[in-house]
Amino acid sequence: MQAKREPSQVDLHESWWIRDVEIPTRLVLAPMAGVSVQAFRRQGRRYGAGLVCSEMVSCAGLHHGNERTLGYLRIAGDEHPLAVQIFGSEPGVMAEAARMVADAGADIVDINFGCPVRKVTKTGAGATLLEDPERACSIVAAVAAAVDLPVSVKMRRGLDDGSRACLAIAPRLVEAGAATLTLHPRSAKQMYTGTADHALTAELVELVDVPIIASGDVTSRARAQAVLATTGASAVMIGRAAQGNPWVLREILDAADGEPGPEEVVAELVLFMRETVRELGERRAQSFLKKFYGWYLGRGRFPRAFKAELTQVEDVEEVERRLFAAAPGARFVLARLEEEQPTAEEVTLDLPISIYGGG
Ligand SMILES: Cc1cc2nc3c(=O)[nH]c(=O)nc-3n(C[C@H](O)[C@H](O)[C@H](O)COP(=O)(O)O)c2cc1C
Repeated sequence: MQAKREPSQVDLHESWWIRDVEIPTRLVLAPMAGVSVQAFRRQGRRYGAGLVCSEMVSCAGLHHGNERTLGYLRIAGDEHPLAVQIFGSEPGVMAEAARMVADAGADIVDINFGCPVRKVTKTGAGATLLEDPERACSIVAAVAAAVDLPVSVKMRRGLDDGSRACLAIAPRLVEAGAATLTLHPRSAKQMYTGTADHALTAELVELVDVPIIASGDVTSRARAQAVLATTGASAVMIGRAAQGNPWVLREILDAADGEPGPEEVVAELVLFMRETVRELGERRAQSFLKKFYGWYLGRGRFPRAFKAELTQVEDVEEVERRLFAAAPGARFVLARLEEEQPTAEEVTLDLPISIYGGG
């Protein structure tokens, strides 16, 4: 029998595979609606995430050619490997969306069976599908048949507290074509309260023969090591801990000192702001970015009053000016970061023509 590994022996730099896609580290950056823009994903890759994910994209929105929804399919050259997550409840519409995701250049199509938000569950999508195995399997089978990419599924434990629906459905999802499963072992009802029950993740690893990604409450190197060692999962997913905090990825991966200096914080935030303005346009970026000011400048890095002050400022350039005034050395750090960025041609901001239907 194999000796049980000590938590400290899990090598987070070890690559692993989702079918034919190599994932270079055992850290995955979580899909988060309203957070996982291109700048977040590119930054996550730079700090050591082996796989990054888009936020959930509405299949209905793609089906109707909604401009904003199509915008979620922009993929930059330095994001790979990247999973684009889709949600919906109609197998045919999901399959069509999966083809668009493949055309956009994603490496993996991820299906959302975890979203607990009523707006989504009332349409029969998200976590509701855990209690509708027939439909869930039809969706996975339709998506797997539609694209050559590996298909992954992200799920919660079930709808209600204590539910084991994820274990009941998992083998069927794999049979239908899922090449990997991610489990966030909270119920939909729990939302983000309580704790993620990774004993369930360990059961899932035993149950199916595909790589499992463990999501939920991984906030430190010690926690990542413990979850990997005790569950046998192939990777851990980092969500909230990485909001405004790419340094946590480096800390988890390399036991590097997690706390950046003020110049580094401001440089990363300004880079994030500039990229987000390019991606979303100035107007949308203004309100989108406000929560990021708090996330980046929080954790005791800058005075509370400064964070509060910035959220009152609408103009992104003015926010930038005040950030540089607070940490003048950040200009040099930013210049170095921008120099290391891929050139504009490598960063696609246009969508492939096929997604617009040609022409
Ligand atoms: C703001 C926010 C948005 C999220 N959006 C998504 C999403 O679009 N798709 C998804 O599968 N999970 C989503 N999640 C769940 C996360 O991917 C992750 O499973 C969960 O936050 C638990 O991990 P954590 O404790 O590391 O944050 C979201 C979570 C948060 C906090």
